[in-house]
Amino acid sequence: MAKKIGILTGGGDCPGLNSVIRAAVWKGIEEYGFEMVGIRRGWKGLTENLTTPLTLDNVTSIWNQGGTILNTSRTNPYKEENGVEKAKDTYKKLKLEGLIAIGGDDTLMVAYNFFKEGFNTVGVPKTIDNDVAATDYTFGFDTAINIAMETLDRLHTTAASHERVMVVELMGRHAGWITLEAGIAGGADIIIIPETPFEIDNIVKRLKKIREGGKNYAIVAVSEGAKISTVEDEDEDGSFVLKDLKKDAFGHVKLGGIGKVLADEIEDRTGYETRSVQLGHIQRGGPPTAFDRFLGTRFGLAAIDLVAEGKFGNMTALKGNQIVTVSLEKAAEKTRTVPDNLKALTGFFSPKI
Ligand code: F6P
Repeated sequence: MAKKIGILTGGGDCPGLNSVIRAAVWKGIEEYGFEMVGIRRGWKGLTENLTTPLTLDNVTSIWNQGGTILNTSRTNPYKEENGVEKAKDTYKKLKLEGLIAIGGDDTLMVAYNFFKEGFNTVGVPKTIDNDVAATDYTFGFDTAINIAMETLDRLHTTAASHERVMVVELMGRHAGWITLEAGIAGGADIIIIPETPFEIDNIVKRLKKIREGGKNYAIVAVSEGAKISTVEDEDEDGSFVLKDLKKDAFGHVKLGGIGKVLADEIEDRTGYETRSVQLGHIQRGGPPTAFDRFLGTRFGLAAIDLVAEGKFGNMTALKGNQIVTVSLEKAAEKTRTVPDNLKALTGFFSPKI
């Protein structure tokens, strides 16, 4: 009887997920003779036994589709009542012999814990935020920065015409990769990332300098997770601007709104007409770039190889141009933030660079 291998996608969706699914299913069936089964809605599907067959036929035409054909959720079975027991029951009931979990650090953390309890899990790192440790890149990020870059490119002309400041809020909870790379590629004048708490006074000074230098408009790119430095205490980590106080199953608050707060402050303090744009989920939607399709495909092929070789408790990763294997523990242990040498690229306005 063919070995049965499950695949699930957890956390926020991102372009390239379907490339991973397609490649893993393809090689799993064609080369290894596995029976492939999709677990729907992330870890929620494993606790509730929500499955869908994955055949060559139903993955063949998904190479250019954004999102995930398996649906996703932010369910953490370790936080649900009897969640882990239910997930274990489903794994056994389905007679799975391996499970590929595609997700960000939260999904990978669950995969690691599940592995420690004796289940055959393998991870694949995804997220538009590019903040998973132990890999140089996650797929989804390249698509997101290209969308963000195009947004910034477009905002230059309208900002210049109206002689305005435009504040663009981009995704990035703890890591400023999207804002840093899209900000530089899209010619932003000021780039603010979560790794460096900022003071509004310094942003205002910089904007005035830009205007006095003869440029009559400015573009500010800011990460949703950027923190306003608390002036009273220099060592403080700063504070987030929140959409509301609700937390998801992994304990994350909903971020959002820093762009508007900052735009209002800039207009009040400088008198320059200022507008804010929140790019939001547009960064996660639509078809993946060639880079993300290629990386997703390489990750999918490598993940099914790990399953076939019985190398459970591991994750596929990109190091330089090579696909390598790293332990899930390494991926789950911390968030990959922007290092100091790249932080320095954001400019001289920040007191903590
Ligand atoms: O997947 C990561 C991410 O895009 C973050 O950048 C952002 O904070 C979050 O997801 C938004 O999540 P949701 O889709 O639940 O609003």
